Amino acid sequence: MAGYAPGPGGRNLDVTILVTGGAGFIGANFIHDWIAATGETAVNLDALTYAGNLESLEALAGDPRHVFVRGDIGDRALVERLLGEHRPRAIVHFAAESHVDRSIHGPGTFVQTNVNGTFELLEAARGYWSPLPGPDRARFRFLHVSTDEVYGTLRPGEPAFTEEHRHLPNSPYAASKAASDHLVRAWHHTYGLPVVTTNCSNNYGPYQFPEKLIPLMIVNGLAGKPLPVYGDGMQVRDWLYVRDHCSAIREVLERGRIGETYNVGGWNEKPNIEIVHTICSLLDELRPDPAGSHARLVTHVADRPGHDRRYAIDARKLERELGWRPAETFESGIRKTVRWYLDNADWVRNVQTGSYRAWLDQNYGHREHA
Ligand code: NAD
Ligand code: DAU
Repeated sequence: MAGYAPGPGGRNLDVTILVTGGAGFIGANFIHDWIAATGETAVNLDALTYAGNLESLEALAGDPRHVFVRGDIGDRALVERLLGEHRPRAIVHFAAESHVDRSIHGPGTFVQTNVNGTFELLEAARGYWSPLPGPDRARFRFLHVSTDEVYGTLRPGEPAFTEEHRHLPNSPYAASKAASDHLVRAWHHTYGLPVVTTNCSNNYGPYQFPEKLIPLMIVNGLAGKPLPVYGDGMQVRDWLYVRDHCSAIREVLERGRIGETYNVGGWNEKPNIEIVHTICSLLDELRPDPAGSHARLVTHVADRPGHDRRYAIDARKLERELGWRPAETFESGIRKTVRWYLDNADWVRNVQTGSYRAWLDQNYGHREHA
């Protein structure tokens, strides 16, 4: 474990944070939101996997408040060097393998990044934080961004997940995120590392890679391709506009209680099939297709193995303690999102590379129609 002396002249921690995974969907939105809201610098450590995309940060090109570093959270020497050089007052940890279907096809990278990577990051953070002088040590935070999927699945009518719900993960992705939650908790309990964890529901909005439900339906709909609905399409998710997730993270970072977890959700439970039909209606309105309504493209395909039936987040703790509520309704958020994909055809085109097409073949090529 490396130690760090105070910076030149024993100066206090800079007004800088280290963001991991800031070239991904939520991370990129967070960096835009963070710089606009605080004016502080964000050092962005991202390995640029298939899901990382610097085009999502193009608007910050040349802005000294965004410092991009390509690298792996599992590279402890690199993380130690970045912490020593930049002396951040917080780490906001987004970097992960995040797609459930990919975790079913290849769970190894999920364990590697989400579990081992988080372990290495925690150790680097501990080495940096432990010898900090009193006020800096008190101010430092490690914010771990996690998911509602760690809680497992709910039956219809069951109360939404609270922070007291047991971890009962069902997919390799969810299990790897649950493991990372446990590591973060233990680093606080054992070593006193000042951590806070957020467990959030399904996000949607600009810059989401079109392997996830909402952007996939938009880009397929625009291309006149089938809209693949797993099984009966009655699985329920609780949707949150991504910028609302970003504002929740800012609140938790500034005022969340150390060692606590906070659920973040949109109070927006909807079955998948309803989401798909809403997108079809918006496309019909905003980009009508002479061949007919986009709903004609809806195609039920074989279900995801182990598919969780329902997630729902009880976000009352966050409201009670920090006064946070989502600003966006689903109706306003989904309209903004569809418009964003219509207005950003270049971004969409550039992510649809050979590896994206290979993924579509792997995930959808052998799915029988349901
Ligand atoms: P994403 O897949 O869009 O982005 C992940 C980013 O992490 C990419 O930029 C990728 O290059 C980077 N990355 C992957 N492995 C890395 C490594 N080893 N080192 C450094 N960088 C690495 O994911 P997202 O949807 O933006 O999710 C971000 C976080 O939020 C994840 O931890 C996810 O579990 C969590 N989360 C996501 C949602 C959601 O609906 N998308 C909901 C709740 C929680
Ligand atoms: O709940 C939070 C989680 O939400 C995050 O932790 C994950 O990182 C994020 O990927 C998301 O997981 P889901 O599995 O819920 O998201 P996805 O967009 O993959 O799927 C949403 C629902 O839509 C799910 O019930 C599966 C279904 N689906 C998905 C795809 C890609 C389809 O019916 N067809 C599809 O083609």
